[in-house]
This record gives sequence, C-alpha cells and structure tokens, in this order.
Amino acid sequence: MLRAMSAHVVVHPSRHEFFVDGADTILDAALRSGLALNYGCSNGNCGLCKARIVSGQVQKVRHHDYVLSEAEKQQGYTLLCTHTAVGDLVVEAPESAEAGDIPAQQIVARVKAMQALGDDLMSLHLQTPRASRLRFLAGQSLTLTAGVASAQLPIASCPCDDRNLHFHVARNGGGGFAQMVFGSLRVGDAVTLFGPWGDFVLRADSPRSILFLACDTGFAPIKSLIEHAMALELSERLHLYWLATRPAGHYLDNLCRSWADALDNFSYAPIAAEQCDGAELVRHIGAEHADLNAFDIYLAGPEAFIRPATIALREQGFPETQLIAAIL
Ligand code: FES
Repeated sequence: MLRAMSAHVVVHPSRHEFFVDGADTILDAALRSGLALNYGCSNGNCGLCKARIVSGQVQKVRHHDYVLSEAEKQQGYTLLCTHTAVGDLVVEAPESAEAGDIPAQQIVARVKAMQALGDDLMSLHLQTPRASRLRFLAGQSLTLTAGVASAQLPIASCPCDDRNLHFHVARNGGGGFAQMVFGSLRVGDAVTLFGPWGDFVLRADSPRSILFLACDTGFAPIKSLIEHAMALELSERLHLYWLATRPAGHYLDNLCRSWADALDNFSYAPIAAEQCDGAELVRHIGAEHADLNAFDIYLAGPEAFIRPATIALREQGFPETQLIAAIL
C-alpha cells in the first residue's frame, strides 16, 4: 500500500497534533512528540492503546496477539502500538494529564551507560527491554533497586525518549544505591524500576509562561519537564534559573546554553550561590519579572530551598494553584 512519507495526526478531544514518519507506529510517534496517550505493553498484547480512527487509513506494521471484537473493528478501533498511518489521520484517544492516570509498574532495566558529571555526581542511563517501555509523566520519580540497595530518584529525561531513562545520582544523596553507582554497578547490570511517583508534572494546557527554579540536582526533574515542553513545542516563554552551591555545580551548563541558542522562547540563568536560598531567588526573579502572577512556577531542590521560596511567594500573594514543587 502506498503511504505518505510523513502523515499528520490530530488527536481528539485534546486537538494535539503530531507527525508519523516512515514505518513508525502511531504510538511511538505520539510519545516522541510528548503526548501521553494511554498504553500498556506497547507490543500488541494488552489492548490499552486501542483508539478509534475517525478519518484516514492505518496499516499494520507489527504482529499483535490482542484481538479486537468485530464491533470494535466496525467502529474503526485499532491498536496504536502496532499500526502506522497511511495518510493524514484524525484519532479519538484519551490522554493522561495527571499523575493519577498512570498505573504503578515494575520493570527490570539494564544499565546502558554511566558518565561522571563531576567528582560526586553520576549520570545513570538505564534502558528498559524492547517489550516493556515505562509509562510516566515528565517530572516524576522512580524507585530504583540494584541488589539490596534502593533509592527514589527523579527521572531526568523525557517520556519522549523511547526506552531511555536518565538519573543524576549524587554520591552523598542516595544511600546504599549511590554507593553502588559509584562502586560496583556496571554497564549491563540489572536495575529494577518501580513507579512512577509524584505529581510534579507539566501543566501543558496552561496558557501562562513558565519559571523553572532549580537548586543543585533539583535540575534533574526540571530537565525532564523542559524536554517535555520542547517535545510538545510549547510556545509560551520558558525561563530556567539554576542555583548551584558547588564549583562546577551547573553540571549540564552546555546543554542549557544549547537550548537557549536553539529556542526563541527559552532563557537560561545559571547562578552560583553559597546555599540553596529559595527566598533570595524569589527576590531575584521578582526584580526581573514585574508580574510573577503571570507565570506558572516549578520549583525543585532540597527542602531548605523549597520552603523559603514557597513562603516568599505566598507572602507576595502568588496563587498556590500556579506553584508546583518537588522536594528532593
Ligand atoms: S499498548 Fe498493549 S496492545 Fe498496544
């Protein structure tokens, strides 16, 4: 069957849009574009990615064991994880917007790579098996277990990054698990993932610009949110303020600068500080932005950073509903 090289897909009722290239499945293309469509196994077994094709044609590109009923076929239902788009499509499919929509999952991943981000910080790159992609929202955390050591860590990458999951592990921040990462853990080793946890997630439908405020490794879940916002191609202005209390503490400075270079709507301010002083940072952003109430503010860092920042924002009447915080 002939098909367009790139098919345009509109999802109802959200009206989100994305493109399907080559023989990509509709589900893979949607996830890469930052959409949180319902799915489970991602390989044709569970039926959770079932969606109704309102218009356009699809083509099967992967075997599936799940069987649609005759009535479902008549109504235009298909499995998004096993089909691609032959041309432009309109699809009726629910999307997850809240953490409560995502079920807890347990998956055994493998260490794909480890890279030092400084003397006491390691980038841990895990990959889930081909048949068990982890479902989560940007900004959420997972419980990681290797051997007998466990830690709950924020995911530092975007759900749009296929089977790849990144974490920033501080030597002094993850107990026995951190000791394993800095000691005996090797590429190829198994790490059990359980989760996701937390409601530090992007409010993608908010019309407001965003201030991301991070201190030290609070950057990890903020990075996940920013990458998700970029995948969704949000047009609102995004400002990142990153406090670092150690020399070379802006450990992904080049990445942040590359975002600022590439995106017209993104700005980056690295700030060196002696401590994670959230109240001082709120004064700083208040001096740069006349009306803070025009923003959603995402805060991530230690409690000593979050509490004073939250109090300072409350004192100036900043709406609670526009404040999203993650204590690490
Ligand atoms: S996600 Fe399980 S069948 Fe598609």
